[in-house]
Amino acid sequence: MNNLLLKVEGLKAGYDGLEVLRGVDLGLSRGEKVVVMGPSGSGKSTLLKCIVRLVEPWSGRIFLDGEEVTGREVDLRKVRAKTGFVFQQYNLFPHMTVIKNLSLPLEVVKRMPRSEAERRAMNMLKAFGLEEFADKYPLQLSGGQQQRVAIARALVMDPVLLLLDEPTSALDPELRREVLDTLFEVARQGRSMLIVTHELDFAEAAADRLVLMDDGLVVEEGDPWELLHTPKSDRARRFLVKIARSAQSVA
Ligand SMILES: Nc1ncnc2c1ncn2[C@@H]1O[C@H](COP(=O)(O)OP(=O)(O)O)[C@@H](O)[C@H]1O
Ligand SMILES: [Mg+2]
Repeated sequence: MNNLLLKVEGLKAGYDGLEVLRGVDLGLSRGEKVVVMGPSGSGKSTLLKCIVRLVEPWSGRIFLDGEEVTGREVDLRKVRAKTGFVFQQYNLFPHMTVIKNLSLPLEVVKRMPRSEAERRAMNMLKAFGLEEFADKYPLQLSGGQQQRVAIARALVMDPVLLLLDEPTSALDPELRREVLDTLFEVARQGRSMLIVTHELDFAEAAADRLVLMDDGLVVEEGDPWELLHTPKSDRARRFLVKIARSAQSVA
């Protein structure tokens, strides 16, 4: 447990009597980058949301950074402050400028003085080549730019774990590349990441491990290259053929 940053044990969860996660086990070491793939509806988003208790687990246990997220006494604000969450649809505050989107959480959650928060926010924007957008509003940016800002906003909080849910899938193909480049950069920095994505490039080149989910369970996991090229189960093979086809159709 000590070197595991995240540990999910026998997790079951769902909605209104519909069981979606049927006993998921998953571990993630410090510094590890894990990609989750799986068919639509297999429970990937539900899994990520359970980790920060945006969805209430039915049973099973989740540990993050030495603390039981599913524990009765847990401080959910603390758990959420430790994680950065990037959703498929950019979830920026639309009525705030880009710099404010980054600096306000620092002021509110980390209780940082405004000048310090703004300095850090600007440095983070600079690190991702986004400084020219600092005073713009999210809707003045392209989808790709907004998603890059969302990633920068998650990182400025210095989370122990970054959770990303299909960060490129709502984007047009020509905008995906710039977000992928940003994700590669984050991965290079050694941040612990749990990312749901069907970007094969990223899985092969940046991930330490690939986890394949189907129908609420982990069906296969392992080295990304091996899993993608020599999947063991039929389910994995069928799924991979399907995503390889859809990747070709947008390339
Ligand atoms: N808020 C919700 N209320 C009811 N059902 C939901 C809700 N969110 C997801 N589901 C259902 O749970 C199942 C798994 O969804 P999800 O975790 O989003 O899968 P994935 O991210 O792998 O596509 C799907 O059948 C979906 O329709
Ligand atoms: Mg999803």
